[in-house]
Amino acid sequence: MSFDTTEANRQTAIFDDHDELWLFGYGSLIYKAGFDYIERAPATIEGWVRRYWQGSHDHRGTPEAPGRVVTLVEAPGETCLGMAYRVTPAVFDYLDHREKNGYLRFAQAMTFADGHTEKGLVYIATPDNAAWLGEARIEAIAAQVAASTGPSGPNRDYVLNLADALAALDAKDAHCYLVADRTRALIDNQSP
Ligand code: SIN
Repeated sequence: MSFDTTEANRQTAIFDDHDELWLFGYGSLIYKAGFDYIERAPATIEGWVRRYWQGSHDHRGTPEAPGRVVTLVEAPGETCLGMAYRVTPAVFDYLDHREKNGYLRFAQAMTFADGHTEKGLVYIATPDNAAWLGEARIEAIAAQVAASTGPSGPNRDYVLNLADALAALDAKDAHCYLVADRTRALIDNQSP
């Protein structure tokens, strides 16, 4: 698969005939929308966990020195908390461009705090995508994060902002908090 998934997403056209739909965000989409939405609310999805296993060659790193960002990895029995946005299909031009480094749109059911569920979309970078980096020790992930920067800014900002946003949602996510803690420790050691 090529690094640029924009065209593949355009052709997927899931829910394109809907006037409005729900989008589930679990990474930067939690703390930085960057698009117009009708409403938003925390929601959960079943069977997935967040992992810093996706490379970022376009936002938080470069093609020569990619950063690390989150994707979702299948984990039966696990629940992932994120932020759901009710949007119009007009936002997908923007989102397909933003998520173009390996993420594809998938249909996904999400559950809200009051127990009701909605079908919607989520962007997931699957293990077969060209920017996939895969599993690594927390220490190695944090070292890569601490050393990486790209057009959207330092990789550390992504990791620390996401950890703060997850804490504000009271989300359980040992992996993301550990990566953030180790990254913070590395940055503190780098400071004069
Ligand atoms: C998401 O936030 O839902 C996708 C991954 C990202 O943009 O960080």
